Formats: sequence, structure tokens, C-alpha cells
Amino acid sequence: MKITDKSIMFEPWTECNNLCKFCYLGQVNRNTPDEKKIENVKKIMSLIDEHFTGIDEQYKALGLIGGEFFQGQMKNPEVKALFFEMCKKVFDLIEKDIIRDFWCYCTLTIGDQEDLYKLIDLFDKTVTDKEKHHFWILVSYDTYGRFYVPGREENWSKHMLNLQKYSFIRFNVTSIFSQDFCEKVLSGELDLIAFQKKYKTHFFFKQPTASMDFDYNEPFAKIHPNWFVKRKTFLDFLVKLKKESKDLFDSVLNIEQRADDIVQSVSDFVPTHRDKETWEETDMEPNPKCGHVTYYKCYADSDECCLCDYLKIKNQDME
Ligand SMILES: C[S@@+](CC[C@H](N)C(=O)[O-])C[C@H]1O[C@@H](n2cnc3c(N)ncnc32)[C@H](O)[C@@H]1O
Ligand code: SF4
Repeated sequence: MKITDKSIMFEPWTECNNLCKFCYLGQVNRNTPDEKKIENVKKIMSLIDEHFTGIDEQYKALGLIGGEFFQGQMKNPEVKALFFEMCKKVFDLIEKDIIRDFWCYCTLTIGDQEDLYKLIDLFDKTVTDKEKHHFWILVSYDTYGRFYVPGREENWSKHMLNLQKYSFIRFNVTSIFSQDFCEKVLSGELDLIAFQKKYKTHFFFKQPTASMDFDYNEPFAKIHPNWFVKRKTFLDFLVKLKKESKDLFDSVLNIEQRADDIVQSVSDFVPTHRDKETWEETDMEPNPKCGHVTYYKCYADSDECCLCDYLKIKNQDME
């Protein structure tokens, strides 16, 4: 079996009830009708069959991303049965060594997460011990716009700690380097190293982007002043991370932690490809100044590219 480092993410639906203030999905994540969820999951199952039948390579990972799955989004029994059937297909591929890792995005902010715990049990029963450590829970932690409803951060923390009872599960936390996040790290209010230890996890730091509902006539920075990061704040954040931890610094915009292909219901299942060599996404416009996609032009107060700034600081030792 040829080992490849390719990874693919499927998005069965965009519905989510956390309604983060910044969510790039905008209003489309408020509700996905059950019929649409059923149609989408069936479509993904056939894509998985097409994609992984008769191949003679092992994929690094297959992921599922919402929206959200485990906070009441599967009240309809047919939706739930199909979702579990789809996951069982993936777990069988792991057991057959066609896929190495399963990445499951979850939000963990509302309710008892009963369906998530059931899914872990299904994985535990389907996959033998030698492949067990291939279950990844991908969660997000943001200091601005995510935990604004009282109790949600506590629920997130409670489940993060409770999930540690499954010793085979591995965790990764995505945090967006918003202005608010960087300020909290710089002031010491948020200790990233202690956080990693407490939750037995690693970070992936992602740039803030605009949501689908972004009104380009209205400066987003005015609506959400703590969201888009100021250039100086981001540079200070990078310098602090570089000084304190190579591991944390390497987690900023780390392309290796991102899927190569993303197949979203929201884009009619037309795959988006991320080129890991050029850091570009096929459907995005390149920045004429540097060639990186405009996605990285994320500062509140400057048109510079945050990826160029990151690479400059990363390469400083080599100069
Ligand atoms: C759409 S969410 C779906 C998975 C899950 N509900 C979560 O929040 O982790 C996927 C990732 O996109 C991030 N995201 C959402 N809106 C964003 C934005 N405007 N800019 C950058 N990242 C964003 C989230 O924080 C999360 O890490
Ligand atoms: S939890 Fe994820 S999908 Fe839900 S609103 Fe927040 S970022 Fe969007």
C-alpha cells in the first residue's frame, strides 16, 4: 500500500446552533432542512465509495466538518441513521488501512453531546486497537464571538476534559488570531502552553476572515472591532510565540494541518483544492503583490499579507 499525505474533508451540512458572531458561513448555517441533510449524506456516501474503492493507496485523513453534528442537529432518526452509516463506512476504511485518520469537527458548547459519545463508541467497536489512535477531535477555541452565551465555554471545557477518558482520542484546537485573541495572549491572560497541557492538545492558528454576510460597504472592523487583527499586534504575537515555543510558532497558518481537498454542500460538492506547495486555494484570487491568496490579507489596519509577515519572521534566523 502506497502511503500518501493527502487528506479530504466533507461537509454534510452547515447547520449549527452556536452562531458565532464571526462565522464565515453567515446566515446559511442557521438551518439545513432534514431532506437536504439526507440528500447530502447520501451524496457523500457515494463520493466516499467512488473515491476510495479499488485504490491502492492510504490517505492520511478523511474529515467531517459542519456546521455542527452533535448539538441537536440529528433529531430526525433518518438523518442520524444515515450519518452513522456514513461514519461506519469511514471507520471500515480505517480498519482496512485505506485511510489513516478520521478528523471529526465538533463544537462542544451546547448540551450533553450524546451523539458524539455514541459515535466514539461505534469507532471503538469497529476499529481494532492498533488503529484506534486515529480518531481526531477537531475543535475551536476563540476568545471573541464564540462563547458569548453564558455557560457555553464551561460546557466546552467540561467535554474536552471528559473526552480524555478515551485515551485513544487525539485533539487539535483551531484558534483564530483575532485582535482580541492576540491581546489576551500578549497580556498573559491566555497562557497557550498551560492550555495545551490542560486539554492535551495542540493548536492550529488561523487568520480571521470575513463572513458570507459581510457588508463590503461597512468596515467589518467597525462592526466587530476586536475581530480583524491589527498588523502590529499580530507581529508582536508572532515574536512572543517564536521566543516561547517553536511548536506554537509552527502552528501559525500551518498548511500541513489543513485538508488538501474540501467537498462542501454549500458549494454543491464541487471540490476546493488547497495547493500545499503554493498555499493557494483553487477558487481564490491571488494577491497581485505577493501571489498568496487574498484570504491572507486580513489586517484591520493594513493591506499587507499576514502570511508574508509570518514567513518573514520565520525565516529571520536564516538571514
Ligand atoms: C465553520 S467551522 C465548523 C466546525 C465547528 N463548528 C467549529 O466551529 O469548529 C470551521 C472552522 O472555521 C472557523 N471560522 C469560522 N468563521 C471564520 C472566519 N470568519 N474566519 C476564520 N475562521 C473562521 C471556525 O472557528 C472553525 O475553526
Ligand atoms: S460553531 Fe463553527 S459552524 Fe457553528 S457558528 Fe461557530 S464557527 Fe460557525
